[in-house]
Amino acid sequence: MARPRLNSGDSHSEDLPKPKINKETLKKALKIFSYIRPFKWKFVIGMVFLILSSLTMLTFPALMGAMIDAAQGKQKFDWLPADVMYIGLLSISILAVQSTISFFRIRLFVEIAEKSLANIRKDTYHRLITLPIDFFANRRVGELNSRLSADLSQIQDTMTTTLAEILRQTISLGVGVFLLVLVSPKLALMNLSVLPIIIVVALIFGRFIRKLSKESQDQLADSNAIVQETLLGISNVKAFVNEYFESKRYASKLGKAVNLAVKGATYRGLFASFIIFAIFGAAIVVIWYGASLVSINEISVGDLTMYILYSMFVAGSMGSFPELYASIQRSLGASERVLEILDEDQEDIKVDETDKNIKQPLTGAIAFDHVRFSYPTRPDIQILKDISFQIQAGKKLAIVGPSGTGKSTIASLILQFYQPTDGTIYYDGIPASELALTDIRNQVAVVPQDVLLFGGTIRENISYGNLQADAEEIITAAKRANAHNFIMDFPDGYDTIVGERGVKLSGGQRQRIAIARALLKDPAILILDEATSSLDSESERLVQLALEELMKNRTSVIIAHRLSTIRDADMIIVVENGFISDVGTHQELMNKGGGLYQHLYQLQSLQVFES
Ligand SMILES: Nc1ncnc2c1ncn2[C@@H]1O[C@H](COP(=O)(O)OP(=O)(O)OP(=O)(O)O)[C@@H](O)[C@H]1O
Ligand SMILES: [Mg+2]
Repeated sequence: MARPRLNSGDSHSEDLPKPKINKETLKKALKIFSYIRPFKWKFVIGMVFLILSSLTMLTFPALMGAMIDAAQGKQKFDWLPADVMYIGLLSISILAVQSTISFFRIRLFVEIAEKSLANIRKDTYHRLITLPIDFFANRRVGELNSRLSADLSQIQDTMTTTLAEILRQTISLGVGVFLLVLVSPKLALMNLSVLPIIIVVALIFGRFIRKLSKESQDQLADSNAIVQETLLGISNVKAFVNEYFESKRYASKLGKAVNLAVKGATYRGLFASFIIFAIFGAAIVVIWYGASLVSINEISVGDLTMYILYSMFVAGSMGSFPELYASIQRSLGASERVLEILDEDQEDIKVDETDKNIKQPLTGAIAFDHVRFSYPTRPDIQILKDISFQIQAGKKLAIVGPSGTGKSTIASLILQFYQPTDGTIYYDGIPASELALTDIRNQVAVVPQDVLLFGGTIRENISYGNLQADAEEIITAAKRANAHNFIMDFPDGYDTIVGERGVKLSGGQRQRIAIARALLKDPAILILDEATSSLDSESERLVQLALEELMKNRTSVIIAHRLSTIRDADMIIVVENGFISDVGTHQELMNKGGGLYQHLYQLQSLQVFES
């Protein structure tokens, strides 16, 4: 039985194509099952218990048949006295043993599955967060998340129940059919000749109905997407007076879903009556024919009872196979998707307790030497065409230029999120390739364009810059970042929860948290990607003061949108269309006249003047 899952990932895994079960996919799946290896003895014991419990289960029809015959004074088996009391007690005792075995089997399998699953989860997560950034550009976070939850739960289902079920049902089917033939070859022959017809019809019908219901589910999902989109963007719907349009759109999708569902219901009704007819028909025929065999004394009443019980076992296991097969298919698909992550190339970093140790301290000089770059996801578009500049340690470099020109991209390159397609980046004169990735990242801090905080406390968010920092250091950093006051205004102070489930901080507040975080890290190189949305003047002044504090004694790369903030930069580079179109200090660039910098600067002064 599949466990119910609460997360939405369930429908997602239904939608994905199910792989055919063949050698290739099985080989891949086996790799997942190698996680069972540490528990192999428990697994073997579990299997033995499983076989034992399946076999003992199959003794009951024989015992029941013998009991009924015993009631009529007949002895069915030589080894079993024709004593109703005796047979009854024996049955109960076997049942007790069987239940005990089942308990241990389930307990063992669940333990194995939980522990090996946890190992797969750990490995997948570890692999995931050590993958290079461009892996994430191609995928939605929701999808990756569902691999960790839905896909792995699917695999877990298979490990805990499906595999055991397959074995159990196979035993019960095989031994069951054998015993049917043993009890009454005539009845069995008649029974087994109609069975294949029922199965084939059921399979064809079932597939057809599933297709219909999937189509209707898709339509329903579409209509739900409309609800979600419009509710999230309700202010847009209202502002454009599109309520009528959206209602109509929703109604039309819903109508389609209903039509398909009704069509599906017709076939499902037909299918259900067919199955009921077939099952009860078969039962009637067996008892009918069986009763006539009893009347001519060919078999005893006990034999007939035994036969009916065994045929229930056989029918039950036959009926369970399609679901088991589907579950195996789903698991194969799931393990393929999980393995895809486990097979990805990791970034060249060692993730352990030593990853914060700096082997090669940097003073902070940076040089770009004819750097060209296009994003791996869009190799045809060259973002940086030829970028060269140098900045000495402790100096302030500003990058300006139109939106979308590649300023944040330069920051990503300094952080080594990507490698240049051409050219070299030097840190203290050493090419990036000769430095450890962790050495570079440990000595660069970034205050990004849009600061994203984790959903923990403010304290945790600041200490992310240096996990070893004590409470004192965190407060000092917050004070220097001009964040202490607003933090203390919250009733919970530093323990205020931020993010989705807590306080939502303003843009300026989030930036100051990010600045405190960077201060705590105390890096040689600081990258400041200014927020595009401007803050109000008070907030901007506080952020500006915090930034000046932060920039002291280190190399700063400022990606500036408010040009007023970079007047004292040691060097300003103007990036346009992937090239550096101008270099100089504020004064030099202003004196040049006619350039983009002067133009932008004048535009901004005008705006300030107007507002
Ligand atoms: N991960 C990515 N994958 C592919 N293309 C990207 C990626 N990130 C940015 N780009 C593209 O690269 C170009 C430069 O983007 P970038 O973010 O560096 O611009 P920017 O100069 O920082 O702009 P802004 O001033 O608006 O912040 C844009 O055309 C953008 O669409
Ligand atoms: Mg940017």
